Amino acid sequence: MNYDIVITTAFGVESVTKRELIRLGVEDPKAIEGSILVHGTEEDVMKYNLLLRTAERVHIKLTNFRAETFDELFDNVKSFSWENFLPKDAKIIVTGKSKKSSLFAISSCQSIIKKAILVRLMPVYKTRTFSEDGAEYNIEFSIDNNEVTLLLNTSGKGLHKRGYRTLVAPAQMKETLACAIVSLSDMRAERPFIDPFCGCGTFVIEAAMRALNIAPGINRDFAFLHWNLFDKRVFDRLKEEAKDTEKRDLCLSFCGYDIDPEVIKLARYHARQAGIEDKVHFQVRDVKELSSRFSEGTICCDPPYGKRLGDLKQAQELTAVLGQRYRALGDKWSAFVVSAVPDFERRFGKKADKNRKFFNAEELCRLYSYFSTKEPRS
Ligand SMILES: C[S@@+](CC[C@H](N)C(=O)[O-])C[C@H]1O[C@@H](n2cnc3c(N)ncnc32)[C@H](O)[C@@H]1O
Repeated sequence: MNYDIVITTAFGVESVTKRELIRLGVEDPKAIEGSILVHGTEEDVMKYNLLLRTAERVHIKLTNFRAETFDELFDNVKSFSWENFLPKDAKIIVTGKSKKSSLFAISSCQSIIKKAILVRLMPVYKTRTFSEDGAEYNIEFSIDNNEVTLLLNTSGKGLHKRGYRTLVAPAQMKETLACAIVSLSDMRAERPFIDPFCGCGTFVIEAAMRALNIAPGINRDFAFLHWNLFDKRVFDRLKEEAKDTEKRDLCLSFCGYDIDPEVIKLARYHARQAGIEDKVHFQVRDVKELSSRFSEGTICCDPPYGKRLGDLKQAQELTAVLGQRYRALGDKWSAFVVSAVPDFERRFGKKADKNRKFFNAEELCRLYSYFSTKEPRS
């Protein structure tokens, strides 16, 4: 079967995910505000869930139509062939959002959509009551300018949940966003990589998994695995193929430092959970002591920027220290720093080669990129 597949991403990350899709052989993925539209089969849906590092979720687009009244919403939902997707015991969860539309009461839309689905299924399954004790099916609606779109979430929990990060550190970054930033850096397996503010290790672990070509979804569950729609043997084959292309033999020089001994323990634990504890190194170290025995490498980090951790003055001081230590490493080092410090470049002591906007935990920040003297990568 061929589907329209909607892959959601964080704001500002669309182009990175698009690049991942192109690398997977997808022709002409269309990026539209926080999502990417592609066409593909069940196998593609499973592959994107398993392999995409920076996407938030993979959905199948079910239908779209115009509706300005609850009756129109009900009738259009009821006319869709839900029986092709939902079994009799499906646990149906409807969530959604609306903007610039006549139908804006979210909970009423949710109830109407669910009722219309069940009314559609009653004659098909010859029942008026549904146990809903089977697998979960998350139906997501969005209404924009009275245009309703219904999606089926095939991922389940967000794809940032790789399975390795089970403990929580203050102000940790989402794995998918951290990986997008690593992807925008000049990180390479053969180049030393340092996060001087590593917290629970996200940048270092994501960078190492990428360098070793370990599939981000190799150790997690997905909603589609609980459905009869997809052939699990195909997914097992995809996993085997992914394992065959891992580069576990590579030696990496990837390190994370942090002033807080507790988060360093978490980082080591997460590296163990990810199965890469022998590939990365975490150590307690103040950024004031940042140095390296290598003459070139990549710095990638999100220092405290005075909102979620510490105050603005401390954040400005840390930015200045990071800038000094970075310059002392020499001009063959590059730096990729996420910050919301308003006068970042002045504090850091150098104008960035590039900067781009991101939202990190709903906070607008920027990625400041400083390339080494080698050829810059975009
Ligand atoms: C925004 S958090 C980094 C979160 C990390 N990216 C993660 O995903 O877990 C900033 C980190 O900087 C650390 N930090 C604060 N002052 C520091 C200093 N002087 N030297 C090194 N690390 C410091 C904090 O302990 C905190 O873990």
